[in-house]
Amino acid sequence: VSTRRQFLRAGTVTLAVGGAALAYRAADQGVFAVSRGTAYALWRTWERTGGIEPVVAAGILAANAHDSQPWRFRVEVTAGPPDEPREAVVEIFRDPDRLLGAFDPFQREVHASIGCAVENIVVTAGARGYRATVDLLPGGAGPDLLARVGLARGPAEPTDLAGAVPRRHTNRFPYQPEAVPAALIAGLDDRLADLGGISVRWLTDDGDLQTFREETVLATEAFIADEDLSRDSHAWFRHSWAELQDEASGLTLDGSVASRPFAAAAKLLPETSLSQANSGFLATTRRGVTSSPLAAVIVADESPAADPTGAREAWLRTGRAWQRLHLALTAEDLVAQPLSQLTELADRERVLGVAPRFGEVLDDLAGPGVLPMMCFRVGYPTRDATPTPRRPLVEVVDYA
Ligand SMILES: Cc1cc2nc3c(=O)[nH]c(=O)nc-3n(C[C@H](O)[C@H](O)[C@H](O)COP(=O)(O)O)c2cc1C
Repeated sequence: VSTRRQFLRAGTVTLAVGGAALAYRAADQGVFAVSRGTAYALWRTWERTGGIEPVVAAGILAANAHDSQPWRFRVEVTAGPPDEPREAVVEIFRDPDRLLGAFDPFQREVHASIGCAVENIVVTAGARGYRATVDLLPGGAGPDLLARVGLARGPAEPTDLAGAVPRRHTNRFPYQPEAVPAALIAGLDDRLADLGGISVRWLTDDGDLQTFREETVLATEAFIADEDLSRDSHAWFRHSWAELQDEASGLTLDGSVASRPFAAAAKLLPETSLSQANSGFLATTRRGVTSSPLAAVIVADESPAADPTGAREAWLRTGRAWQRLHLALTAEDLVAQPLSQLTELADRERVLGVAPRFGEVLDDLAGPGVLPMMCFRVGYPTRDATPTPRRPLVEVVDYA
């Protein structure tokens, strides 16, 4: 009996020590703290000040590929007091130290990300009493200056888009089977009319949707089989809570794993290996595309200047279109996720000079006379997505 009691006591101690260690690691890894800490502070504080600071902060809250936040902002007040200017200029630069690597060889996604920031700035400016004028690729100040937004005092006009800015999050979970109403889709098309040759090809045909699903899964398999692509993508993956809080950018388990309990469990394990991340990426993609009732390709009118490797302005506009669509969908309680594997693999084929297998699939889905720019899926949520990290204003904004 005494041996058994000793054994039980030892077991209890082991359990208690193990439990404490696990609890420590749980706290250390932020298991119970989804979207908490300084890396998420901007989502809570961005609207607190007056003037143009919230307008610039909204730019930082925009969608952007891999949450790389490949931008810098330069703000110049040109009329009125600094805290409540009558006129100001916001310039948005790409940050050459935050390019994505082999999966974005022509900086298509960097340009689209900056387009997203431009759109969030324009939308928020209107709601906070500024009229915005956008100049894409304005020249001067070097090749990194991608956009200039002029702001001038005007009437404050709150809109459904502006209200959606803090609620918009990329949703990588499965979606409900319920169809997206056709009238709603037509309304989204109308919203893009001013974006100069950017429109959406909705994959409402069952055959097209099925092709998109299957080919996106195949492109994901090709992505993870390509060492350069998967290595450069993995570099943006944040493994520990400390690293995530420190970098305030990149992909996290909360944003990339399909179920909360699994995300919590995965955080307790040692660093996610490349092969674990790859299989998670494939499984999440397969579940995601299979569940989605609708997908689409954003397309750009083909023009002689808009060759697939040099269409920088069209990519900036595509980013504006994506951000606007995602805000409009959010306002309608729909959720969405960009899926870039097909465009990334088509670019990879261009870089390697091989036959355009995925390139042709994309061209077919997009239809004749247009360039496929960006793919996404849409639906009603099975669960809510949470905010992702953002670097604070002081790290990314310079004042003239
Ligand atoms: C050009 C572009 C491409 C993207 N591609 C993907 C993608 O292939 N898969 C994905 O899950 N999210 C993709 N995203 C979404 C970003 O990962 C997401 O915006 C970023 O992590 C910030 O999170 P948030 O949108 O919830 O604020 C893309 C976003 C942009 C702007």
